[in-house]
Amino acid sequence: MSIFRPQHGGNLSWAAAQAGCLPTEILDFSASINPLGPPQSVLKAIRQHLDEISSYPDPASTILRQALSQLHQVPMDWILVGNGAAELLTWACRSLSELKQVHLVTPAFSDYGRALRAFGAKILTHNLNLPIDLPSRSVALWADLSEDFLLRSLAAFLSDPSFDAQEASASGLLLNNPHNPTGQIATKADLLPLLDCFSQVVVDEAFMEFLPQEDAYSLVGEIEAHPNLVVLRSLTKFYSIPGLRLGYAIAHPDRLAQWQQWRDPWSVNVLAMQAGVAGLQDIAFQGATYDWLAAAKPQLQAGLAALSGLTPLPSAANFFLVHCDASVLALQKALLQQRLLIRDCMSFAELGDRYFRVAVRTEAENVRLLQALADKLSDPLLSLSRPNLT
Ligand SMILES: Cc1ncc(COP(=O)(O)O)c(C=O)c1O
Repeated sequence: MSIFRPQHGGNLSWAAAQAGCLPTEILDFSASINPLGPPQSVLKAIRQHLDEISSYPDPASTILRQALSQLHQVPMDWILVGNGAAELLTWACRSLSELKQVHLVTPAFSDYGRALRAFGAKILTHNLNLPIDLPSRSVALWADLSEDFLLRSLAAFLSDPSFDAQEASASGLLLNNPHNPTGQIATKADLLPLLDCFSQVVVDEAFMEFLPQEDAYSLVGEIEAHPNLVVLRSLTKFYSIPGLRLGYAIAHPDRLAQWQQWRDPWSVNVLAMQAGVAGLQDIAFQGATYDWLAAAKPQLQAGLAALSGLTPLPSAANFFLVHCDASVLALQKALLQQRLLIRDCMSFAELGDRYFRVAVRTEAENVRLLQALADKLSDPLLSLSRPNLT
């Protein structure tokens, strides 16, 4: 396998090289980015503030932190803005690596391992044990029976006789909610007991923006009562600015002050900061996004489930993890010839080549993907379909 095989979704240069076309010609289902954006308000703000690139940005990102403080009803000094959630994840992992060990649910976003290993953390993984070698219909059955498998797995790990409460109290926990790549979600009520078990809990809520009602799930409202909690959020996905980069952390001011000392003082540029302020004020764009997702998500899920050999897992987020009866690599390659990019899961060691992840895009784009999938899955030359064994 090439060392240049992407570790993340959205690697359009790689996809274009495979497909022999321009990156702009690829329809990208591999990165879970809002297809309605970037909003006009954000583009306008970027244009309006272009002249300001001749000065250093405000290292405190004051106006954006003010807007976030209002949005979340959290004091400003509990908020730190970063060059994407990915930058703040690095500092969260540096903090975590100072603890005895770090518990990690797997499969996990690959940057968790990258950032933890960079600081020599001792990592203890808890595998969600997704089915790999079952035929599609059994996977669908498993998914029905195992609804909330993220929660069950967390509960099982806390109640396991081998769980060492003393060890946990000196250790950290890094969680992703909603969870990438499965799309599973845990409720706030389910997560709260974990805050009492671990010395530090980092919850990456990079996809939380896509839930119209996040109160029952997000831990942001718990932050002031729990100095050992860190919540990470991303603005790149919802506002479609992954190339600009913007995210923030909400945590105790002492912790954030320490991260600020560790990092480059100007990691958030002028244009990203203004884009964030404009996006947060754009209520119309937010509403349009929720309306789009409410229609396009069930459409894509039903379309995927109707295809023989594929099983999309239920998802709370704007993407689906899909089990495939055969290796997805040939399928990915064939779709690329039609300029469609899906995310293989080769970088998730626990999933291998039987899963792919797709973002929810506009209804017309979803139809294009579904038609191409139907086409490729029925192509005998690709030998993708395998008889269902159940
Ligand atoms: C779970 C998760 N956390 C964080 C990030 C990084 O987000 P950002 O683009 O804001 O750095 C990603 C990006 O794909 C992600 O999937």
